[in-house]
This record gives sequence, C-alpha cells and structure tokens, in this order.
Amino acid sequence: MFKDKKVVFSGVQPSGVLTLGNYLGAIKNFSAFSDEYKCYYCVVDEHAITVRQNPADLRRRTYETLALYMACGLDPAKNTLFVQSHVSAHAELGWILDCYTMFGELSRMTQFKDKSQKNADNINAGLFTYPSLMVADILLYQTELVPIGSDQKQHLELTRDVAARFNAIYGDTFVIPEPYIPQTTARIMSLAEPSKKMSKSDENENAVVRILDPKDTIIKKFKRAVTDSGCEVRRAPDKEGVSNLMTIYSAFTGKTDAEIEAEFAGRGYGDFKLAVGEACADALAPVQAEFARLMADKAYLEDVMANGAEEAWRNAYRTMSKVRRKIGFTEPKRR
Ligand code: TRP
Repeated sequence: MFKDKKVVFSGVQPSGVLTLGNYLGAIKNFSAFSDEYKCYYCVVDEHAITVRQNPADLRRRTYETLALYMACGLDPAKNTLFVQSHVSAHAELGWILDCYTMFGELSRMTQFKDKSQKNADNINAGLFTYPSLMVADILLYQTELVPIGSDQKQHLELTRDVAARFNAIYGDTFVIPEPYIPQTTARIMSLAEPSKKMSKSDENENAVVRILDPKDTIIKKFKRAVTDSGCEVRRAPDKEGVSNLMTIYSAFTGKTDAEIEAEFAGRGYGDFKLAVGEACADALAPVQAEFARLMADKAYLEDVMANGAEEAWRNAYRTMSKVRRKIGFTEPKRR
C-alpha cells in the first residue's frame, strides 16, 4: 500500500506528566526509526478520556506531549506528529473493529483489570473497549512495527489477532504488525517499589522521575530511591532497586553492567545514587530547555499538529475506504 517505506506507529497518552520510563522506554528510541521507516507518533487524547480528565489539563497536556516528543528529538519534518482526535478515522475504525473484537478477549486485558480497580467509580464502556481503539490506531496506517513498553504487549497481540481475523473474513486488508520492545530499557521500575513499573499516575511522587523535574528534584528522588540492605552495586534478581538504577545509569552513560560494577566497587549506594541522579539530570537538561522554548510558541505547535493531521488523514483515508467497501458500507453520493 505504501510502496516506499514500512510504517512505524506509536502513541503516548496526554494523561500525565511523562516519566523517565516513557523517555527511556519509548520516546528516546522513536527518532531512530525516522530514516528507515515512515513514522507516525500520535498524542492519543481519545484514549485519555477513558479516565475522567480535567478539560483544561487535558488540553495543556496535549500541547505538552507534542512539545515533549519534539524536545526528545522527533523532527516534524521527518515524522508525522499528530493528535488522535484530529483524525476522525481513528474513532470510526475503532467502532468498526469493536465489532470484530470479542468480549472475552477484552475481558482478559490486564490493563483493563488494573484500571478498573483504580477507577472503581468509573468503569465505563470506553475503558473496556480501549484496546480496540488502539488496534484501530495501528491498523489504520498499515503499520509494520509498533514501539511500545512491555505493558502494551498484550494489546499488540490483540491487534494481530483482530487483523488476522478481519483478513480471514474479507481477504488481505491489514498488515499484521510486530511489536518493538527495547530490550534493556523497556521496563524502568518505580524508585520506591522497584518490583512495580514506574508509572505516570503513581501517587508517591518519590517513585517517579518526570522528564520535566528540575535537577535538584531529580537528585533528591534518586537519593531516596529504595535499594536493599547490602551495599554492593551489582545486578541481581534479589537486588531489584539497584538493578533498576543500573539500567537507568547505563541508558544515560552507555556503560555496561561490568563497567558500572567496577566504577562503584567499594563505594556504597550513596555515591552511586548521586551519580545516577546527576547523569539523569544532565541528560534531561537540553530536553527541558527545548521543551520550554516550544511551549512558548503555541502557534508553531498548532502548525505541526495541523500538518501532521493532514498527512495522517491522507493515509488513513485509504485504509478506511477499503474497510468500508469490504464490510458492505455504502458510499454517500458527493454533492
Ligand atoms: N495504550 C498505549 C499506552 O497506554 C497508548 C497507545 C494508544 C498506543 N494507541 C497506541 C501505543 C498505538 C502504541 C500504538 O501506553
């Protein structure tokens, strides 16, 4: 369908202030694809409203998420950056694919189970069908590769199942996508409970490093990071906290585990935590400066959104027409 380049698609919700986990696990790696692939990076505002949002916050975070994509190195000239609700085909295909996704499949989604526990007073239908909207996001662009964190793997398996099911009924319609889960940094864990993933919505602020946290906050959070009762900087299954800090340090410095272990041999956790904090703060400083510059230029961000939506819509349209025809929808006569 798109003859020249294979397609990459990924989405980030504008539902919280992005974390180190989002940065290392996802956004930082996105720009590596732009030479080889046609890349779509989407701010998924329609996914965000499955949980109640304050409208002013949602609007601001949509701009912020786009600005952060760009500050992290995504060039809008090389990538299609856009907002999900600006391309109505996402919601349209989402509805259609709801009718090809089974109740039982959606019931097995662990993110649904987690989120309905956390939002017991608002278990709305959208929260339940959220995965089929994600399926639509991906299939709309005939995506081959989807960079995601490991928590989204189950949704990607569903995407492949739904695509294959649709293709089996109607003949080849959708490309079956593959997940791309970066090996080492896929799971950045909470600094407070290192057996849990670092989450945007964690109530304990000390558990989460935000991309936009000031340097002293970053250092303070790493100083308080939970380690263990030992004092050896070494990666081991029973040293989850230390292993997580090593992953982060390695991501920012490029050092291997052996190099890190040698660097901190006999120096204790205090020194190590400070070094991780400083490496992190120094690496994020230029991202933060660029973010501030972009947020001060809303008109430019709106241009980027408009161009992105136009480009996305042009390609989404082809899939939409094909799907509509195959399932037996009529075309309205243009007048
Ligand atoms: N569900 C993803 C998350 O919570 C966000 C998302 C929505 C997404 N649509 C997508 C990710 C399509 C990859 C591809 O993180």
